[in-house]
Amino acid sequence: MNICGTGSSLPKFELDNQRLTTFLDTSDEWITTRTGIHTRRVITDETLLGMGLEAGAKALEDSGLEAKDIDFILCSTVQADTVTPSLACLIQAGLGAQCAGVDINGACAGFVYALDLAGALIDSGRARHVLVVCAEAMSRLCDWTDRSTCVLFGDGAGAAVCGPGEGYLRARLTSRGDGEIMYMRPNPGNSPFATAAQPYAPMHMAGQEVYKFAVSTVPKDLLALLEGAGLTPDQVDHYLLHQANKRILDAVRTRLRQGEEKFPSNIHCRGNTSSASLAILLDELNRAGHFRKGDLLALSAFGAGLTTGSCLLKWTKE
Ligand code: ACO
Repeated sequence: MNICGTGSSLPKFELDNQRLTTFLDTSDEWITTRTGIHTRRVITDETLLGMGLEAGAKALEDSGLEAKDIDFILCSTVQADTVTPSLACLIQAGLGAQCAGVDINGACAGFVYALDLAGALIDSGRARHVLVVCAEAMSRLCDWTDRSTCVLFGDGAGAAVCGPGEGYLRARLTSRGDGEIMYMRPNPGNSPFATAAQPYAPMHMAGQEVYKFAVSTVPKDLLALLEGAGLTPDQVDHYLLHQANKRILDAVRTRLRQGEEKFPSNIHCRGNTSSASLAILLDELNRAGHFRKGDLLALSAFGAGLTTGSCLLKWTKE
C-alpha cells in the first residue's frame, strides 16, 4: 500500500489561549509551558461532514484520482455529526463515490488504525484505492468549564488516498482497555428497561495517567517496530507523532536520541485534534514539500481506549 494523496480542512475560528482566560481560570503561560499549545481551530458553523468532504476532495485531487476510482471509504471519528448514518456513507454520497464505507473509532490512534485496515484491503486485493478520512470535533465532546481538558483540544479533518504499492512497511497496534482513564458517555436515551444506563458525561481525562502511558508506550512501540523491520531510529527521516502535548513529543524524541528537526510539529496552532491530528500534520508537510521520494516515515499515536498505533512507511510520492 502507498499513500498517493493527502488533504485537510480546518474550521475558520482560531481560539487562542488569551481568549480562554476570559472564561476559565487559566493562563497563556500555564497552557504554553505544559502543552506547547498557543492556538487551536474550533468549530462554529462547520460540520464534520463539510470538513471531511473538503479534506477528502483535496486528497483525491492530490492523488490525481477521481471519486469513482475509490473502492472503499474508511472514516475515523470519535463522534460524527450523526450516530447513524455513518460519516463514511455521507462522504461517499457527497463526493459522488460508488463504494462502501464505514466509520471506525480508534480515538487518537484512529488514523494509523485506518491506514492499517486500508493496507489490509489493498494488499489482499479486495480494494485498489481506499479513501481514509479522519474528522474530529473534540470541542463538542469537552466540558468547557473543565480547564484541565478543554484547553488541550482542537477540531479539524485530514484525509489520505491509499493505493497499491510497497510503501507501507509494517504497523503495531495495541489496546489496553480502560474505562476510567479517559471516557465520554453519550446521552443514554430513555428506555424504561435500561437498568444499567449511565448518565451523559463529557470528556473526562486523567491527564497524568495518559501522560505516563504515552511516554512509556510510544518509544517502546516505535523501537519494537523498528527492530522488527531491522532498522534503527537513526534511519527514520521523519517522526510524525500524535500532536497531544509538546512535552510528550520531547520525551519521545529524547528517548529515541533524535534531533528536533526529525519531529515536525503543528501542536502550537492546532492543539490535539484526536485522530485527525496525524492526518492533518501529514497533509501540511506533504503540501509544504517536506518529504522526498524514498524518505522513511514513522507515525505514532496514542489515545483513549487506551489505544496505540504506530507504523513505518516509505514516502513514494514524487
Ligand atoms: N490552567 C491552569 N491550571 C490548570 C489547568 C489550566 N488549564 N489545568 C489544570 N490546572 C491545574 C490543576 O488543577 C493542578 O492544580 P493543583 O496542583 O492546585 O491541584 C495543576 O494545574 C497541575 O495539574 P496537573 O494535572 O498535575 O498538570 P500536569 O502537569 O500533569 O499537566 C496535562 C496536565 C497538560 C493535561 C498533562 O497531564 C498532559 O499533557 N497529559 C497528557 C494528556 C494527553 O496527551 N491527552 C491526550 C491523549 S488522548 C487524546 O488525544 C484524545
